[in-house]
Amino acid sequence: MTAVPDPQDQTVEGCPRHVAIIMDGNGRWATQRGRPRLFGHHAGAKRVREIVEACPGFGVEYLTIFAFSTENWKRTQVEVAGLMTLFRRYITKETRALREKGVRVRFIGARTRLDKKLVKLMQDLEEATAHNTLVNLTIALNYGGRDEVARATKRLAQDVAAGRLDPEKVDEETLPRYLDTYVLPDPDLVIRTSGEARISNFLLWQSAYAEYEFIDTLWPDFTKQEFGCLCTAFGGRDRRFGAVKT
Ligand code: FPP
Repeated sequence: MTAVPDPQDQTVEGCPRHVAIIMDGNGRWATQRGRPRLFGHHAGAKRVREIVEACPGFGVEYLTIFAFSTENWKRTQVEVAGLMTLFRRYITKETRALREKGVRVRFIGARTRLDKKLVKLMQDLEEATAHNTLVNLTIALNYGGRDEVARATKRLAQDVAAGRLDPEKVDEETLPRYLDTYVLPDPDLVIRTSGEARISNFLLWQSAYAEYEFIDTLWPDFTKQEFGCLCTAFGGRDRRFGAVKT
C-alpha cells in the first residue's frame, strides 16, 4: 500500500472527490469477540464519525455510506430493530456535532418502510445541516440500487404520461435527474470492507466508472489512516473513462 498520509491532515494529491463505502463486517467483528452482532454495529457507528471527520483533511468533499439496504430487512427482527434504534440514537446524538463541524447530511433510499419517528429525525437532520458545505455526508438507509432505478423510472414514466417529458428526449442524462442522488456527483472511489468483493446493489447507476477497493479490514477496525492510504492509492490510478491516452 502507498505512503500513509499524515492523519493530521494533508490534502491527498489526486484525492477522490466522492468516496462511497459499503461498511461491511460488523457482525463478524462482534462474533470474533463473542458478542452479539449489534455490538459490532455500535462499534461501526463510532467509526463513521472518525471517517467523516477525516474527509476535509484529505480533500474528500462527498462521502456516501451504506447503512441499511433494502435486503437487510431479511435479518432477524432483533437485529433490524436494534439497527433502527441505533440510527435514531445516532441522529439524535450526532446532530449538533455534524452541524457544528460543517457536515451537510442527506439520506437516500425509500422512506416508506421506515418508522415515522426515524423519518422525522432524518428530515430534521437534513434541515439542520442544509447550509453546511465542508463535507457532504449521504447516508443510504433502506437503499437498494435497483429499487432506486425502479422508483426513478416510475416518476419518469409519470412525467411522460403527463406530457411533461418528451420520450424522444430521454437519454443517459435524463434518468440521473430522477435518482435519489440527483444532487451528487458520481462516486470516484467505492470501498468495501471485510473481504467481500461484490457491490450488493449499491449505487449501481452512479458507480459505472468508479474505481473499487475491496479490503479485508472489518468496518469497526477501519481507521482514518487506512482511509487516507486508499485515497492516496486512488490518486495514482489511471482513469480513462473508456478513452485511450494520447
Ligand atoms: C454490514 O455488516 C453492516 C450493516 C448492515 C449495517 C451498517 C451500519 C453501521 C456501520 C452502523 C451505523 C451506521 C450509521 C450511519 C450510524 P454485517 O452486519 O453484514 O457484517 P457481517 O458481514 O460480518 O455479518
